[in-house]
Amino acid sequence: MKVWYSLLCSAVISLNVFGQTKMSITADNASPVISKHIYGHFSEHLGRCIYDGFWVSDTSTLPRKDRIRLDVVEALKKIQIPNLRWPGGCFGDEYHWRDGIGKREARPKMINTHWGNVTEDNSFGTHEFLELCSLLNTEPYIAGNVGSGTVEEMNKWVEYLNFDGLSPMTELRKQNGRTAPWKVQFWGVGNESWGCGGSMTADYYADQYRRYATFCKNYPGAPLKKIAAGASDFDYNWTETLMKKVPLNMMWGVSLHYYTLMGNWNKKGSATQFDENGYFTTMQKCLRMDELVTRHSTIMDRYDPTKRVALVVDEWGVWTDVEPGTNPGFLYQQNSMRDALIAGATLNIFNNHADRVKMANLAQTINVLQALILTKGNQMLLTPTYHVFDLYKVHQEAKLLNVNFTSPDYAVGDQKIPAVNVSASQDSTGKVHISLVNMDANKSITIRTSLYDINWKTAEGQVITSNKFTDINTFEKPDLIRPAAFNGAKKEGNDLVVTLPRLSVVVLELKP
Ligand code: AHR
Repeated sequence: MKVWYSLLCSAVISLNVFGQTKMSITADNASPVISKHIYGHFSEHLGRCIYDGFWVSDTSTLPRKDRIRLDVVEALKKIQIPNLRWPGGCFGDEYHWRDGIGKREARPKMINTHWGNVTEDNSFGTHEFLELCSLLNTEPYIAGNVGSGTVEEMNKWVEYLNFDGLSPMTELRKQNGRTAPWKVQFWGVGNESWGCGGSMTADYYADQYRRYATFCKNYPGAPLKKIAAGASDFDYNWTETLMKKVPLNMMWGVSLHYYTLMGNWNKKGSATQFDENGYFTTMQKCLRMDELVTRHSTIMDRYDPTKRVALVVDEWGVWTDVEPGTNPGFLYQQNSMRDALIAGATLNIFNNHADRVKMANLAQTINVLQALILTKGNQMLLTPTYHVFDLYKVHQEAKLLNVNFTSPDYAVGDQKIPAVNVSASQDSTGKVHISLVNMDANKSITIRTSLYDINWKTAEGQVITSNKFTDINTFEKPDLIRPAAFNGAKKEGNDLVVTLPRLSVVVLELKP
């Protein structure tokens, strides 16, 4: 029966009848569940992410718990963030955890050499981060220091966090006010070890990984999910070397970092001032995530055909020039309708690779790079990217559905990309969710979808769209871009017919 359906589906895909693109969606018992951890986030000691983002002054008039501002906590709880990565990034490989425990006034200060040479006062450390995770109801993902830290330092940090018996680290934790271990699971062994994390070769890092990971112990009730510092974008040799040299049972995941740039690392391009060529190039580069995930996964498949090791894309997003007049080391950028389309398309790619991609972390949560939230004093705004995560949360822990579809092209000059991308899932109550992104800056697109093995009666949805790809939310107009009810979907027989506005992210819910 399934074979018959597949043949039928491939016969109808890519037909464009009466201006409608054909699509088919089928349920398949063998499809993976989309891990909620694909919807993870990243908070580094960088610019105004921790300090002034999550952690404010003790004289702040904002509602807060200790120095954690609660308006951002509430906003992030709404989108159900499943995990939060900390303390870096590059900062992680110069962070010494013992400097961030105990009485705050006695904690040593240090220079944050990567990010503006500012003084780090260590007031936000292990206890504060784990308190934040508990308020957010999210799982911590801690990146340990391989670049400038010792094996003993990492070993003791894990003991401090996760051991419940009698030990020096347990005693120290208790003296600092915490009796029960936190039982942290996600554990990064270094970050970008090919660059800011130590300028290592792939071979050298693979050996170091084995050594450090050996001493990151699994304490009773607290098994670690160890994640090896992986490749930067197209460095396939890095993944190959790790997979070859590290026994599979020593790693839960291997990471991958990829940032979307409109220009290059010397001139990345503005977050708000770009024309259609710049917009198109950014979209083209964003879609390369699919190629990257496919090719790194293919390498992993050769060593790990049963897919026990996860691909963890623990840094992704658009990286632009900083906002004029802001500290270049703080990476503060605005967030436009273009960013919403990047978020929607990238999350579709991750969903569609849910068999291997089990975790991902957008960089970074507040005031840095492709942020969910921007703050200015006591004000806070939700970016277009935030709203995409809000709509897409329905995919968390839902079963991936098969989508057969060939998109119409979006062409600029002699270049073209698929205008539309999509992913679909079915949750445990039987509801189907379909997320569609129309990147075309000029045309709406109508799609007729046949759904096989899926029982549905009604379709409702929400849309995020705006007139211009450069549109942004500002502190003066914080709601220019926000989700609205979507009226462009209807049921015709058993077909779903959807008209996607130009520049739009649409998430539909089909109820049985
Ligand atoms: O997210 C900003 C930086 O980008 C991180 O610190 C580093 O890991 C990457 O190069």
